[in-house]
Amino acid sequence: MKKTFIGNWKMNPQSLKEAQDLVNVVDEVLVKEGSNPNLDIIFCPPFIFLENIIAMSNLSKSSQGFMVGAQNLAIENSGAYTGEISGQMLTGLGILSVIIGHSERRWKLNESDEVINKKLKSAILNNIIPIICFGEKVRGDSSKEEISKQIQSTFQGIDFKDLKKMYVTYEPVWAISANSGAEVDNPKNASNSIDFIKNYIKDNFDTGSTQIDFIYGGSVNFDNVNGLILENNIDGVLVGGASVRKEDLSKLIDAMNRLTK
Ligand code: PGA
Repeated sequence: MKKTFIGNWKMNPQSLKEAQDLVNVVDEVLVKEGSNPNLDIIFCPPFIFLENIIAMSNLSKSSQGFMVGAQNLAIENSGAYTGEISGQMLTGLGILSVIIGHSERRWKLNESDEVINKKLKSAILNNIIPIICFGEKVRGDSSKEEISKQIQSTFQGIDFKDLKKMYVTYEPVWAISANSGAEVDNPKNASNSIDFIKNYIKDNFDTGSTQIDFIYGGSVNFDNVNGLILENNIDGVLVGGASVRKEDLSKLIDAMNRLTK
């Protein structure tokens, strides 16, 4: 059973040295435990560390290695967009995937449905694997309606035949560790929500031969990861807080590595 770990570092860590330490810690685990083709690892550092972390991924001491993704991209490939980084620039750097539609961009930075849709189109245009996030804000009955709306607007006008692979992440906002009172979803609920998302996409969009992996995100750590990734419906985890704490990260990769071997 192949699973994926995606580390969303958000606006962390504060220095390149700390960023390199995070990568080294994972490399050590992978070297110690030997190669495991069943675990894909993707780090999504802040823009300013990308080049360096890509260089580290090329020099990884483990044969398994890891991939590097970005946390954001611009809606256009070039032009007058002060402060933005385009998909074309990311591809030029060797970036393979990009997070789109994360709730922090949606809610804290007011990113609209339209912008998220344009970013998805730009990722596809530039052959970058999208890591799309969906999830309800508050736990409760309206979550399905909220998630269906997000899927509808995000996938509007998307031509899936140009897309080989995509990660679709179920990330309920109430479960994200940075939010007060957050707690991890239980594996069965997470799996049911993913089932809903999977079927909704199947019933409403012609995704053709696009390979879609379904990911859970929200307060994942080494203690709770087992139950989550043992669910058939859950192909991997998107991890924020625990992916920038060295010891937690090392334990998490270790747990996932053992479980998937
Ligand atoms: P968390 O964050 O693991 O700290 O809950 C996940 C995310 O927001 O991507």
